[in-house]
Amino acid sequence: MLEQLEKILENRTTVKYFDGNPIPEHITELIKKSVAQTPSCNNRYNFKVKILGQSLEHRRAKLGLYEYVCTVSDKEVHYSDDNTDLMVSRSPRSVSEAHSWRDQKILRTQINGQTLAPLLFVWYFDDGDPIDNDYLDVGLSCWNSIITAESLGVQSGFCGCFDNDCLKEYLDIKGSPVVMVGFGFANETESNEHKHPDKPRPQWDQIIS
Ligand SMILES: Cc1cc2nc3c(=O)[nH]c(=O)nc-3n(C[C@H](O)[C@H](O)[C@H](O)COP(=O)(O)O)c2cc1C
Repeated sequence: MLEQLEKILENRTTVKYFDGNPIPEHITELIKKSVAQTPSCNNRYNFKVKILGQSLEHRRAKLGLYEYVCTVSDKEVHYSDDNTDLMVSRSPRSVSEAHSWRDQKILRTQINGQTLAPLLFVWYFDDGDPIDNDYLDVGLSCWNSIITAESLGVQSGFCGCFDNDCLKEYLDIKGSPVVMVGFGFANETESNEHKHPDKPRPQWDQIIS
């Protein structure tokens, strides 16, 4: 058991390319169940999870995430209409902004293939007024679903690369999105060290004092 957990933690990495094979239904059910098998401060559970699966409608929605929503500008753009002095590279605030960037050839698209995973979970707050602990609760729920999936032979990929308002509007979410995780069978993986050669993951003794 302990050996299995160590192996899962050792091997898990954020996967961006899945082979497209669907996840068997009984495994999907266990991953779904795991989102609520974590503690929540004061049992608030102030979050919901929207799931996109393999229906035609959902596959179209995931393609839009891949092409337009979970993207960034290729050059610095105005932070906002109110603050035109500050220039940043950021995700589009709406799909029409993404279209305009595409037309200007400044949209860095197709960078988050995890949004095309056969199963995509989107955690969000539906009360619109989260407290700090609610974010921790989402982190726990999210991580539990990842560990559950990995222990069942399913890989996962985080995606936080989106503008909240853009994703909210695009998926018609009644609340505020926090993070997405795609689940599926990895087509290719890239280790943490490979992704961040100049910024390695710390050892435990660099964190614990
Ligand atoms: C909350 C969160 C959001 C993330 N969002 C993205 C993302 O949008 N795109 C991406 O490629 N990786 C994303 N990642 C992956 C991290 O960049 C990645 O986990 C980090 O490089 C560590 O790599 P590993 O998961 O392979 O160990 C995210 C990770 C976390 C925890």
